Amino acid sequence: MKVLVVGSGGREHALAWKLSLSEEVDRIFAAPGNAGMEGLAERVDIAAGQVDRLAEYAAANRIDLTVVGPEVPLVKGIADHFSSEGLRIFGFGASGSRLEGSKVWAKNFMKRNRIPTGDYMVFDSAEEASGYLASRTGPFVIKADGLAAGKGVIISHTVEDAKESVEQIMERREFGDAGKRVVIEEFLNGQEVSILAVFDGRDYRLFLPSQDHKRAYDGDSGPNTGGMGAYAPVPFFDDRLREQVIDEIIEPTFEGIVDEGLVEGAGVLYFGLIISEQGPRVLEYNCRFGDPETQAVLPLFEGDLFRVMFEATEGNLGSVKFSNSGKSASCVVLASGGYPVSYSKGYRITGIDLAEKEGCMVFHAGTAMDEGELVTSGGRVLGVTAVGETLHESLEIVYRGIEKISFRDAFSRSDIGKKALMGINESEKE
Ligand code: GLY
Repeated sequence: MKVLVVGSGGREHALAWKLSLSEEVDRIFAAPGNAGMEGLAERVDIAAGQVDRLAEYAAANRIDLTVVGPEVPLVKGIADHFSSEGLRIFGFGASGSRLEGSKVWAKNFMKRNRIPTGDYMVFDSAEEASGYLASRTGPFVIKADGLAAGKGVIISHTVEDAKESVEQIMERREFGDAGKRVVIEEFLNGQEVSILAVFDGRDYRLFLPSQDHKRAYDGDSGPNTGGMGAYAPVPFFDDRLREQVIDEIIEPTFEGIVDEGLVEGAGVLYFGLIISEQGPRVLEYNCRFGDPETQAVLPLFEGDLFRVMFEATEGNLGSVKFSNSGKSASCVVLASGGYPVSYSKGYRITGIDLAEKEGCMVFHAGTAMDEGELVTSGGRVLGVTAVGETLHESLEIVYRGIEKISFRDAFSRSDIGKKALMGINESEKE
């Protein structure tokens, strides 16, 4: 079987790696892929957003299954386009992908379907939004309605800061047309959990819960990023909480999707949850695998990912083995100095082989080859990943690996998984 993976990040490297383990997969193509995927996949020089060209390529090369990583082509309707051409694709159509493509639409979907989420108001003028803010006290969560490469959510502690965030989004249009409307949402306290669910149009299966670390620096400080590290499973996400989340959030979401006829075909729905004092709440939906959650979750998945995706596109998820190991995995992102704001590229990367000798898998995100040398080419450069018997062990392996890798101005967070480890230590004392 020939599989085309669309995208170029660490998530796509992890997807290509896991798909390559399937005995049924003969060749993998990656459009455009990254330097780390060479040897695993044949790279195709088509950007993830070039939907027409990707469909032409898939047809001409008789691709058996296309797997879409990033949200932009999904929101643009790549799955609808492929399906209309008779091409098999794993990824939701444009109507299902609106759950990520429009924050306003997603919040209204949750309200219609009584899915627990923070209280919110929607504004299409900065003046009205500011007037509303003036009547409240912070903190506030201000969200640009549309896609903003993971940067469109701003937490503002005071009314003044919140008004500035509204200006940034709606007046200065720092996220382009994504900022035509904003959602102003109640701030919820608690730990975040990401749940990735494969959905075949009727039935779903859950990967292990994971936790991302979105802020750039230790102690959850600094600007929001695409994600600086993740681990799975999440120790405090026990069976009771899992059942509650399934009953109150996951089942009603899929029932709502089916009732409203939102999804044709198959894909992954990402539930971004917060476990607040009032109970679990949905912070966001994404219409795709998370990055870097995927890098932590897939090494623990024991099934055949290709078969799962293929059967899901047939509406036949019930026929496949879907199980996860009892181990833990962690992924720590090595980023370019200055990320997520501004950073240089082209720095030579060394030591990946040494990290692998420590037992790490190193998923590439922002890397390229330059005159035969591996160099940095993005903000998030590598996702150093390891599996261990425990969370503690997986983190020890990862951080030993991180020490071996170097490139100029590299930085990573030193506290990935720390809150979870503290929780485990506390419960051991009880
Ligand atoms: N890690 C966050 C995301 O994939 O959106």
